[in-house]
Amino acid sequence: MLIVSCSHGKHLGYLVAKRLGKKHSSLIVDKFPDDELRIRFGCDLKNKNVVLVQSFYENISDCIIEVIFAAKTAHELSAKKVILAAPYFPYFRQDKRFHKGEAVSQAIIAGLIDKYFDAACIMDPHLHRKSRLEQLFRIKAKKLTANNLIADYIKKHVKNPVIIGPDEESYKWAKNVAEIIGADSTILRKKRFSSYHVEVKLNKKINLKGRNVVIVDDIVSTGHTILETAKILRKLGAKNIYCICVHGVFADGALNKLGKAGIKAVSTNTIPNKAARIDVSGVIGKNLNF
Ligand code: R5P
Repeated sequence: MLIVSCSHGKHLGYLVAKRLGKKHSSLIVDKFPDDELRIRFGCDLKNKNVVLVQSFYENISDCIIEVIFAAKTAHELSAKKVILAAPYFPYFRQDKRFHKGEAVSQAIIAGLIDKYFDAACIMDPHLHRKSRLEQLFRIKAKKLTANNLIADYIKKHVKNPVIIGPDEESYKWAKNVAEIIGADSTILRKKRFSSYHVEVKLNKKINLKGRNVVIVDDIVSTGHTILETAKILRKLGAKNIYCICVHGVFADGALNKLGKAGIKAVSTNTIPNKAARIDVSGVIGKNLNF
């Protein structure tokens, strides 16, 4: 097995290779003057199981083109199998035509990976209306989760926590993490009007007076879901409010906004950021055998 870090996979590819004692190489990626991508492998791929590690954050379209070029090239250079390890995989929230004429991006992106790779493993994919990866991929695809790591982090750092999921989709993380810890949990309801406008509502009365509350979700993007949730939790008397997510996208200064609102934010390192305290390299490393 050869672990190859793509441009947005360096923070984890090296760690995974080190944990497994496997050879690591970085994909050489640069651009032609007209902004076209050029990729090149710096090592021999013949008869190897090549794992391409790419986390699809920032310049997401380039990240996608890069792995497609790399996967096709790896096959041409006689790799035995080409496996995608995606700490963060994009476009999965667009799983239906929410508005007339929109693309269902989830299916299109999954189709591309399906065409060029032999197998894929994805950390906490945002699966909702399609709940299993087999509904999206014909290749072997594994869904990995950081829930045990998040539960361990909460156990170590938060005394007597209550776990809150900000919307119906978050139950896979919030409820599951609460069950692992043996903590109380509540899932709230969210209505999204636009990327920056969400409303979060309580669906039953809960008393949080003096409690340490942890909001658990898969993705924090603009941070508005968490900010709106925290407003409700404060009104209910929460003492400390934490937010723990798998994928810290933290678009448009979201991390600062959360800090200013007194929310202690922590994420895993699927996307590198200042709040990344939970390392997922062990989970990825254990799941690369296809
Ligand atoms: C959506 O259902 C996701 O689980 C997150 O709740 C959402 O992506 C968060 O987005 P934002 O931080 O922009 O409110």
